[in-house]
Amino acid sequence: MALFRNFYYVLMLQVALTIAMVHAQDDQSGFISIDCGITEGSDYTDKRTGINYVSDARFIDSGINQEISSMSKSDTLDIQFSTLRSFPQNTRNCYTLRPKQGKGNRYLIRARFNYGNYDLKGQPPKFDLYLGNDPWSRVNVKVSSATDYEIIHLASSDYIYVCLVNIGLGNPFISALELRLLDSTMYADDKKLRSLTLSARTNFGTSKIVRYADDKYDRIWYPIASTNTKDIQTSSPISLGSSTKESVPSKVMSTAVIPANPTADLFYSWTATDKTEEYFMYIHYAEIETLEGNETREFNIYLNDAYWDGPISPTDHTTSTYFTSFYNASSYELTLRRTINSTLPTMMNAIELYNPIHLQQRQTDDKDATTMWSTKSTYGLKRNWQGDPCVPQDSMWDGVKCSNDTDNLRIISMNLSFSGLSGEITPALANLTVIQSLDLSYNNLTGSVPTFLASLNFLKNLNLTGNNFTRPLPAELLKKAKNGSLFLSIEEDGDQDTDACSKGSCKKSKTSKNKNVVIVVIATVAAIFVLLTILIVLWITKRRRAQDSSIRDEFIEPRNQRFTYSEVQRITNSFSNVIGKGGFGTVFSGLIGDTRAAVKMLSESSAQGCREFQSEVHLLMSVHHKNITSLVGYCDEGSHKGIIYEYMANGNLGMHLFDASQNVLSWKKRLQIGYDAAQGLEYMHHGCKPPIVHRDVKCSNILLNEKLQAKLADFGLSRAFTTEGATHVSTVIAGTPGYLDPEYYTTNRLTEKSDVYSFGVVLLELITGRAAISTDIYIVNWVKSMVEKGSVENIIDPRLYGDFDVNTAWKMVELAMACVDMSSVKRPTMNDVVMELQTCLKGAKPNNLNHSMSLSLESMSGPNLR
Ligand SMILES: *[C@@H]1O[C@H](CO)[C@@H](O)[C@H](O)[C@H]1NC(C)=O
Ligand SMILES: *[C@@H]1O[C@H](CO)[C@@H](O)[C@H](O)[C@H]1NC(C)=O
Ligand SMILES: *[C@@H]1O[C@H](CO)[C@@H](O)[C@H](O)[C@H]1NC(C)=O
Ligand SMILES: *[C@@H]1O[C@H](CO)[C@@H](O)[C@H](O)[C@H]1NC(C)=O
Ligand SMILES: *[C@@H]1O[C@H](CO)[C@@H](O)[C@H](O)[C@H]1NC(C)=O
Ligand SMILES: *[C@@H]1O[C@H](CO)[C@@H](O)[C@H](O)[C@H]1NC(C)=O
Ligand SMILES: *[C@@H]1O[C@H](CO)[C@@H](O)[C@H](O)[C@H]1NC(C)=O
Ligand SMILES: *[C@@H]1O[C@H](CO)[C@@H](O)[C@H](O)[C@H]1NC(C)=O
Ligand SMILES: *[C@@H]1O[C@H](CO)[C@@H](O)[C@H](O)[C@H]1NC(C)=O
Ligand SMILES: *[C@@H]1O[C@H](CO)[C@@H](O)[C@H](O)[C@H]1NC(C)=O
Repeated sequence: MALFRNFYYVLMLQVALTIAMVHAQDDQSGFISIDCGITEGSDYTDKRTGINYVSDARFIDSGINQEISSMSKSDTLDIQFSTLRSFPQNTRNCYTLRPKQGKGNRYLIRARFNYGNYDLKGQPPKFDLYLGNDPWSRVNVKVSSATDYEIIHLASSDYIYVCLVNIGLGNPFISALELRLLDSTMYADDKKLRSLTLSARTNFGTSKIVRYADDKYDRIWYPIASTNTKDIQTSSPISLGSSTKESVPSKVMSTAVIPANPTADLFYSWTATDKTEEYFMYIHYAEIETLEGNETREFNIYLNDAYWDGPISPTDHTTSTYFTSFYNASSYELTLRRTINSTLPTMMNAIELYNPIHLQQRQTDDKDATTMWSTKSTYGLKRNWQGDPCVPQDSMWDGVKCSNDTDNLRIISMNLSFSGLSGEITPALANLTVIQSLDLSYNNLTGSVPTFLASLNFLKNLNLTGNNFTRPLPAELLKKAKNGSLFLSIEEDGDQDTDACSKGSCKKSKTSKNKNVVIVVIATVAAIFVLLTILIVLWITKRRRAQDSSIRDEFIEPRNQRFTYSEVQRITNSFSNVIGKGGFGTVFSGLIGDTRAAVKMLSESSAQGCREFQSEVHLLMSVHHKNITSLVGYCDEGSHKGIIYEYMANGNLGMHLFDASQNVLSWKKRLQIGYDAAQGLEYMHHGCKPPIVHRDVKCSNILLNEKLQAKLADFGLSRAFTTEGATHVSTVIAGTPGYLDPEYYTTNRLTEKSDVYSFGVVLLELITGRAAISTDIYIVNWVKSMVEKGSVENIIDPRLYGDFDVNTAWKMVELAMACVDMSSVKRPTMNDVVMELQTCLKGAKPNNLNHSMSLSLESMSGPNLR
């Protein structure tokens, strides 16, 4: 019963300081060997192992190079342990490994840590090691010895990210990172495809480390101290038997231990961190002595005193591997006990112990990841783009959005605006085949706009503003932009001169760069056409001026509406109270006497708002209606440009409909708001001469005062027509996605009916409480499909809990759908819309809409000022 302990095995893998022999160079094509913390370019071949090490500079962006303290240095230490990279800044720091053999292969990955008191704190940090998005291990190292963490991993992506994560217990660091391609049959856990973290790899009967080139896979075989044992060895080579797949090197198998007392057992014991921790154990054995005919060596295997397997009889100079897996104990003792018939003592050559872990391996699609890495390097981007682009969620790459389905993470949006990109658009982007939104605005990009952008079938939003591309743009791209399948933002040809406005010549600035505005350039505009347009514009301006006085009539205010900048400062109490951000500037609240006012200041940097500013001031000075926000005054003092409006206490309609607002607008209130806004628009279309098209009707441009009375606002894009009843062809399409009239988009023919379309979308929003475009669903299509299914009650905003009048609801839906008819001639006029809404409001039996529409196509010529 008195059994002696031959071995004591410590879980932590202490790296014994022994000198391995240098062997002839072998194939390192499956290796990535990184010595962390050496200066870039100081790559070298390790004299002891013959392994070629490179600096980590091209595998990671973060961290700083450090050296261990001089006290900790020693000649016996592996040279890789004398420097390290530490990470004082970021929480998460990732090395990107891209083995050329790619995914589908099994790799051994080894992270090596030697603290060496580099920070002179005498206290090593604790931190977490991740493989991509999956936790691998907590790193817990000793002050004065090196520790290895190893994992055998079947890669399902081409990219392998090794990440060090600060957990608040000191700055992570790393000394060396090694990746080795294994043969695919080695350490296979084929059923569950788990990865194996190394718990122990022990070579018996020696005091020397064995690794490359004795082991062509560069596994490190650690020696172990033992008592009451005897080392045996052979100089003959040990071949691999058919039962082993692990390719254990001959050098490892040719040494072994036997008990000093020939009849005694051999023990190998360890403690588990957790009972549920599973173990994979590989016992590699080979007979290394030459046996006489009457000699036998035979032993049984016991685990925690239970018979496990046997009898086993090692084959002469041939390696066999016995594999087993187990869990459910807090400590383990493996016993090898000779059988009664054995004439020789039991023996151990080598044992490996692993813990299988399941890694989810959720990573960005390889092709997308390749594009992202190549884009990063092409433009020398210095932002914190590291690790996988899409996971984990909280360290997704800046400006990148990914699809969130479980099996395949794809890049669906990339925002590189203001990123200092220069050169051409990289062809790599062609491989982002499911991208929906690409923002390359405000960089220094040059060259031509590549045609492949038109073949990205999911691309809906492309912003190229603020670069210097050559023209013309690819015809395919323009075609997509024109038929509405792509929102393209780019300035009009030749319009690079954004300074025009501050020089005081607003008319030069041709294009709106309002953020919400879609601009499509028709590249093929003939010179004659441009001339014609200029003439028309000049003529309009002239006529408008001539008519201003007649329109203003009784509304002319005696007071000069112009304010100085210092007056505006006083009104707004030095711009202390911001109440919103408008299309081209910030909106402040102010006080004129006792009356509250809203002051929109054109931001000084935004030269592009200048034209809207002029246009809006002119328009508001001439247009007065109870459902149009009224102008109190304006300021135009050099770069200080501002407009002062009446104060609208209840903000914009969108805030009441979509934001999680507490007070749900009642059905009646919605009808009233729709009716108010319709009257404002009707006045612009039919009450002004020439008629004015608002061009940007949407919920956020409908403001509500303290009595929830609705008024139209934001006339920066509005245009007046001279030619009565005719359409107006423009080179620039403006409006907001979701509200934009598709017919106008395709034909460039602007009429009041484009506003009717947008107003129809507003009505749908009022009815449904849904935004024009939400999670890719376009409200018009949605309502259409619901109507076709006949489920009108499901259209109405559920927050009303059924509290609405069914008849008027039907009527509203019908009216809204008529407004958004694809064909502008079939849409009602605003006159019709106002009448319909009025009948709805009164709850009267509605007219037949189709009938009233057919009456209403007359014209907008009648001068019906009211
Ligand atoms: C095996 O045979 C040899 C002689 O051939 C003898 O010396 C030895 O004692 C025998 N050993 C055993 C265990 O019988
Ligand atoms: C684990 O061990 C306990 C006794 O220690 C035993 O009752 C239990 O059945 C074991 N569970 C498994 C899954 O082997
Ligand atoms: C020992 O060897 C004898 C004869 O070869 C055999 O009959 C017996 O079963 C063996 N005993 C064991 C425990 O293997
Ligand atoms: C993405 O999916 C994961 C799990 O399916 C979920 O936890 C996460 O919140 C989702 N993220 C977003 C932005 O929807
Ligand atoms: C891109 O980021 C900028 C801020 O850097 C932001 O103004 C812009 O709206 C973003 N673009 C998109 C398409 O979200
Ligand atoms: C764009 O390039 C010009 C000239 O090469 C340079 O002066 C300017 O600073 C660059 N702008 C940006 C935003 O990089
Ligand atoms: C796109 O991906 C394919 C296949 O992965 C690759 O061959 C090609 O070079 C990539 N294209 C670009 C422009 O990077
Ligand atoms: C680029 O245009 C898109 C709309 O097409 C817009 O959402 C985005 O904010 C714009 N980017 C910048 C920097 O203004
Ligand atoms: C745009 O590029 C042209 C040459 O392609 C160059 O002459 C011009 O100065 C550039 N403009 C800006 C604003 O960088
Ligand atoms: C727009 O044009 C593109 C290219 O010509 C075509 O693929 C797409 O289907 C069209 N989309 C619509 C909505 O007409």
